[in-house]
Amino acid sequence: MESKWLLLLTMATLMAVGNGQESVKPLVKIVKGKKLCDKGWECKGWSQYCCNQTISDYFQTYQFENLFAKRNTPVAHAAGFWDYHSFITAAAQYQPHGFGTTGGKLMSMKEVAAFLGHVGSKTSCGGGYGVATGGPLAWGLCYNKEMSPSKVYCDDYYKYTYPCTPGVSYHGRGALPIYWNYNYGETGKALKVDLLNHPEYLENNATLAFQAAIWRWMTPVKKNQPSAHDVFVGNWKPTKNDTMAKRLPGFGTTMNVLYGDQVCGQGDVDSMNNIISHYLYYLDLMGVGREEAGPHDVLTCEEQKPFTVSPSSAASS
Ligand SMILES: *[C@@H]1O[C@H](CO)[C@@H](O)[C@H](O)[C@H]1NC(C)=O
Ligand SMILES: *[C@@H]1O[C@H](CO)[C@@H](O)[C@H](O)[C@H]1NC(C)=O
Ligand SMILES: *[C@@H]1O[C@H](CO)[C@@H](O)[C@H](O)[C@H]1NC(C)=O
Repeated sequence: MESKWLLLLTMATLMAVGNGQESVKPLVKIVKGKKLCDKGWECKGWSQYCCNQTISDYFQTYQFENLFAKRNTPVAHAAGFWDYHSFITAAAQYQPHGFGTTGGKLMSMKEVAAFLGHVGSKTSCGGGYGVATGGPLAWGLCYNKEMSPSKVYCDDYYKYTYPCTPGVSYHGRGALPIYWNYNYGETGKALKVDLLNHPEYLENNATLAFQAAIWRWMTPVKKNQPSAHDVFVGNWKPTKNDTMAKRLPGFGTTMNVLYGDQVCGQGDVDSMNNIISHYLYYLDLMGVGREEAGPHDVLTCEEQKPFTVSPSSAASS
């Protein structure tokens, strides 16, 4: 009798997660006037963010399938690799810190669309398979690695901090592809995984690949800079210098954080527009609608000055 009940309860919880119609009932406590929650596996560990809807409440398997519709076709280079479950599992670690759980449901959905927009554009093979087959934006998560690397991306400058392992290549891998020994080293250190000796883990484990990408999204690339997450959800308040550099809270500045002058401050360039197009496409598919992306100067970074490393400007901001 008792075990039967347990089974039923377990099934009810699983169904709630699967359908996303009902969120897991959170444990709640109040600490110093703040409401903190714990929602079990997806949002664990007493956080105010866990009181809000979690990602699987508003973003479900079928939506993931819609966004990345072509990823398992035979011509896709990483067919069979990426799936919804690995994304949600990876995201679970960051939801207590606000990933997809900051602000209301609209902001949360927009953040997931924004993050996945970056991922989709960096892993797309849409350029090659084009318009006849679902359009160029349907091909996100086609790759999980750089196909024909021309070098091993070993920078000797970091030989004491992140020395290259002989015979190992640090070409692009992952959901927001990582290049160079120092980036593998830094990411591996943060995730407590030996990526410096085993960069291939990122092309063998989709959960780890998503985890590395979400970590990048949630973490400032340089000291005294905001993270893409902070910029997007509005945790970041621009300084006077930022405003003069046309860096506003929103999607445009996430590109500045992640790619700097490779994408931003270059005018109306393809490298920028490709990322924006994926974000807008995903907003539509998720039912949010691209009109929620906001005005042009928030969405793009074509006129933004790239973030600098100037210690003087950083120190006073
Ligand atoms: C939780 O969601 C509400 C709106 O539903 C929002 O006002 C609040 O800021 C969110 N909490 C956090 C910590 O972001
Ligand atoms: C894949 O990575 C995740 C997250 O780091 C880890 O928990 C899991 O054990 C890994 N799976 C395998 C098969 O190594
Ligand atoms: C603004 O930028 C100028 C020039 O780059 C720098 O000298 C100054 O310290 C910065 N001020 C702030 C508040 O960041």
